[in-house]
Order: sequence, then C-alpha cells, then structure tokens
Amino acid sequence: MSHYIIRGGNRLVGALGIHGAKNAALPVLAAAAICGDSVIHNCPRLTDIGVAMKILRHLGCGARREGDTIVTTRGTGGDCRIPDGLMGAMRSSIVFLGGMVARHGCAELALPGGCELGARPIDLHLAALSRMGARITETGGRLVCSAPEGLRGARIDLSFPSVGATENTIIAAATARGETILTGAAREPEILDLIDFLQGCGAKILLELDGTIRINGVEQLHGTEHRVIPDRIAAGTYLCAAAITGGELLVKRVVPGHLASSLAVLSQAGCQVTAGSDWVRLAAPQRLSAFGTVKTMPYPGFPTDMQSVMMAAATVADGTTVFVENIFESRYRHVPELKKLGARIITEGRAAVVTGAERLTGAGLACTDLRGGAAVVLGALAAEGESTVTGLEHIDRGYDDLEGNLARLGADIIRIKE
Ligand code: EPZ
Repeated sequence: MSHYIIRGGNRLVGALGIHGAKNAALPVLAAAAICGDSVIHNCPRLTDIGVAMKILRHLGCGARREGDTIVTTRGTGGDCRIPDGLMGAMRSSIVFLGGMVARHGCAELALPGGCELGARPIDLHLAALSRMGARITETGGRLVCSAPEGLRGARIDLSFPSVGATENTIIAAATARGETILTGAAREPEILDLIDFLQGCGAKILLELDGTIRINGVEQLHGTEHRVIPDRIAAGTYLCAAAITGGELLVKRVVPGHLASSLAVLSQAGCQVTAGSDWVRLAAPQRLSAFGTVKTMPYPGFPTDMQSVMMAAATVADGTTVFVENIFESRYRHVPELKKLGARIITEGRAAVVTGAERLTGAGLACTDLRGGAAVVLGALAAEGESTVTGLEHIDRGYDDLEGNLARLGADIIRIKE
C-alpha cells in the first residue's frame, strides 16, 4: 500500500508526452487472442495492462513487454476459464469474452458484477454473443459460454452504444462464419483503434456512414504491428490539473480531435486552448470561470471518464457548474472526498451542482475509483496546505507515473510506500 503527500498551491507549468490509451490497449490485447503473432507499440505501464497480459498467457498466448511494446504470440492450447483472481483484479476482463469463445469455443469466468460506478450489467455483451450462436448460462455467479460449432455472423442492434459490448461483438465476429451487421455501436476512438488492429490482421471490417459496422468473418487472422492511440483521458486529466492550478501545459503525442469536447469545456472555463497536429497547449486564467452544464454522453460527447476531473476544476471556479452523469448510474463517489477539501457540491440522482469556492484546504483523502482518484489528486493540488491521498491502487490502474509527471510539472507531490 502507498499514499501521496501533496502540498497544494503550485502552478503546473511545462510539457508532457502522453502515454498510450489503456482503453485501446485492453481490447487490442483481447483481440490478440485470435490473431497471429503481433507487435503492439505504445502500451502504457499500468496494472490493468499487466492483468490483461496474464489473461492472454492463461488463454495459451504468449505476451511479453519490451519497453512500451508488448509482443504477443498466438500460441496453442490454453484454458478458456479466466481465474477468479484475474477476473477480480480487473472487471473489464469481460472484454476477453468474445475472443475466448472465438479461440476456444468456450469461456468460463466469474460474473464481473458491479463496481464503484454502479451495477455494470453485461446483458448487451451476452445478447450479442447468443445471437452469434453461443450458448450462455449463468450459475452461482459464474458465466459459462460455449459455441462448439463456432460462432456465426448475425445482425446485432445495440440498444445502447456500449463500448465493451461493441468491442466483444467485433472481436467475436472477426472469425465467425458469415457476416455480422452491428448497429447502434459505440464510436469511441478506442473502438476505431481496435478495428484498425484487426484490419491489420486481415479482418474484413467496414464502417458505414450511419455508424453501422459490417464484419465478414475470415478463417484465420494473421499478426500485425500496431501502435496504440494516445490516452485522451490521461491527456484531459493533466490539462485539468493545469487548469485547476492556474498553470500552463503543453501535452504532446495526443490526437486533439479525440479531446474536442473536453477542450470545449476548458475553453468555456476561461482557459486559452490551442492545438496542432499532435499537441494541445493550455494556459489557465488566475481563476477559472464556472462552465454551465456538463452532460456526459457517448463519444463524441463529453466523456464520462472526464466528469470527475472536470468537477475538481469546477470546485474552484467562479460561479456554479452543473454536471449530469448520463452514462453510469453512480459516478459521484469522489464527491464526499472533494467536500473534505471544502468543495461545495450537492448531488441529486444523476445531477451534481458545484458552487466554486474561493479556496480549498488540504485534508486526508481517499481514492474511490480510478477517475475519482484523479479528481481527488487534482483537488489536493489546488488546495492550500497539505493533503494525503490513499488508495493509489486505483490510480495505478490507469495513470502511468502520475506523481512523477505532476512533480516534473512543478507539483509538490511525493509517494510514500508503506
Ligand atoms: C468502457 O467501459 C471504459 N472501460 C470505461 O472507462 C468508460 O467509462 C466506458 O467505456 C464509457 O465510455 C474500458 O474501455 C476498459 P459501457 P464499459 O459498456 O465498456 C451500461 C475508465 O475509467 N451497459 O459503454 O464497461 C453500463 O452499465 C473506465 O477507464 C449495460 O447496461 O462501458 C453503463 O451504464 C471506467 N449493459 C453504460 O452502459 C451492457 O451490457 C456504459 O457502459 C453494457 C453496458
């Protein structure tokens, strides 16, 4: 276990290269289970990525890290059961389901269950796979899928653009017999990155203007060399850190278009935002202005993963900002922690009303989940005096060397390893 000691009040100033996207690397690694030997660059050093590599090995693949690159081999054999320990370590292990059924004709894993963000059902994943011929039973908290004759193409209409269900369907359909027509799919950049990887491996995937995805299954997929897209949420988090401390930050190796909705909100808050082909520069005002109403939406709308860190910025802005969390049923667990700093926030169902405070004051804080933890760190950076932050295992799931990057930008933050 470890915790941060943060002394707030320093402006963040400087430049930072952004690591590869956790939420792109995970589905790409899941897809590697049905592809030939591959080389995947720009994989961030995160605990979730480590878990994904362990799952791949368990499925009979090879997976080894060489710096920021992960080399995977198709391998032979392997097991179609994800051990409960690995499933428990990362609920998004469910993204391996489609690949497991496609590779082994079976899959068995503990139901991911809820998490800090709410119930996290997987009904859309299961409905898609059963339409493709998988037989699915849920007994005693375990999910058992089988498709001994393999999967077949089907028409699948998602009632909600679930990122994970879209990913599982695409992976399962890549080597299914026949055509899969997927409508209502998520269109996050991470989905396009997965499609790019699979097309590199020979998958036949077409994107239509209305968002429909057509996948014609192929017998076998070969390997490829792929570079994971930059992490738009990590980039947005650091930009919010600069905004909340009145700083100036240049983030490099990003895709500005992936950040558009977050940059629009930061501009509304009074930041000067400029962007080039692969960089974004932000100069924050002395004090942010409140930024109206922020509603989380599927891409290209404002991302739910940016809600908590943007809320941290709102806690010191001049005026009142309203958040509406439309994606997850309970994604305000960071609110009580921000209130310990003196933030003025009222939540009611999916809405949160934030009245900006003149100042925040350091306190003892805990990370409640990955992005909520980032929000708590940002609040501590802006607070006067000293804060401690525990529960860093949440942070380590999604941010590569957060404290090192913040310190290099001028933050007074140290990690104490107990
Ligand atoms: C992915 O989660 C991301 N995780 C999340 O990032 C992100 O917040 C989310 O997409 C939304 O963008 C990864 O990519 C590993 P969903 P996922 O399926 O796939 C409901 C982070 O911080 N739903 O789009 O689980 C669900 O309950 C994480 O990096 C169903 O009802 O998200 C939720 O309310 C957090 N039935 C909504 O859809 C289903 O079968 C969005 O879920 C599936 C989902």
